[in-house]
Amino acid sequence: MIRKKNLISICDLSKKEIKIVLNKSLEFKNNKVQTNILYGDKLKGKMLGLLFEKPSTRTMVSFATAMVNLGGIPIFLNTEKLQCSRGESIHDTALVLSRYLNGIIIRTFKHCDLEEFAKYSTIPVINGLTDSEHPCQILSSIMTIMELHKIRDIEVLKKIKIVYIGDGSNNIATSFFLISIILELDLTIISPKQYCVKKELLKLITNNINITSDISLVENADVIYTDVWTSMGFESEKNKRKEIFISYQVNEKLLKKASAKCVVLHCLPAIRGEEITTEIMNKYEYSIFMEVENRLHVQKAILLYFLVRNSFN
Ligand code: CP
Ligand code: NVA
Repeated sequence: MIRKKNLISICDLSKKEIKIVLNKSLEFKNNKVQTNILYGDKLKGKMLGLLFEKPSTRTMVSFATAMVNLGGIPIFLNTEKLQCSRGESIHDTALVLSRYLNGIIIRTFKHCDLEEFAKYSTIPVINGLTDSEHPCQILSSIMTIMELHKIRDIEVLKKIKIVYIGDGSNNIATSFFLISIILELDLTIISPKQYCVKKELLKLITNNINITSDISLVENADVIYTDVWTSMGFESEKNKRKEIFISYQVNEKLLKKASAKCVVLHCLPAIRGEEITTEIMNKYEYSIFMEVENRLHVQKAILLYFLVRNSFN
């Protein structure tokens, strides 16, 4: 198994590695007390940089908490206060930060900026969201779907019909698309034609993935997943998008078409009344916020996997 240094795309993990990370996440969740005893000093003395160009609540706080729980130290790096705000190159910034830190979480706009940082960095670089992907989120989504449907084995997950409805061109849809190829999941992405899955991804499509603009294909869904209509960085299109996406809202009417055991998930933050109604947010608070909690357990597993090479042996 060739272990990658960085988690830039969900494709940096093989199916086997995803299983390993998810099993460890579940272990963290189920053995809270013992976990602290077993892993409380696994990252002792290690420093984790948190470099966020876009706002974040869940990703930033869960990684910082995970780091402290494992004995490490998080450092919040405000891009406006770093010399890169005055033009220092990504190349040089990566060389500098690699000499102080043991790992770094980066949230940025352009995916290629993250790739460039990773190219020159000698420490593990973890994608905390770019315009193109959100790998850490999607691992929590899969963990949550497995828990909610009481599935222990990833192979059984293939029997669950997952429907992502909303912006098919954004980071969450892309990471869902890619992880569904790796894990052979039954995924339907429903989005308006203008915001369909990115063209460059379509050539990768496998039989288990269905791309459509037809809302009726939500039929028999076991999971309905949505995300904001306007992602960070695309605010200038907000009004146009509101009009285009209106019939793709997750509401009671849509839920009637789904399976009786269907659960609703949202990566959050949500805009109640846009992509999801308040009614549905309240009704599925349990599942939606279970995914929020799972982010903490998954971040611990990710940190351990990437920052301590022999931690899973
Ligand atoms: N879901 C997610 O990544 O949330 P934040 O933007 O708050 O980190
Ligand atoms: N697609 C959203 C996800 C937020 C976690 C965005 O990029 O804003």
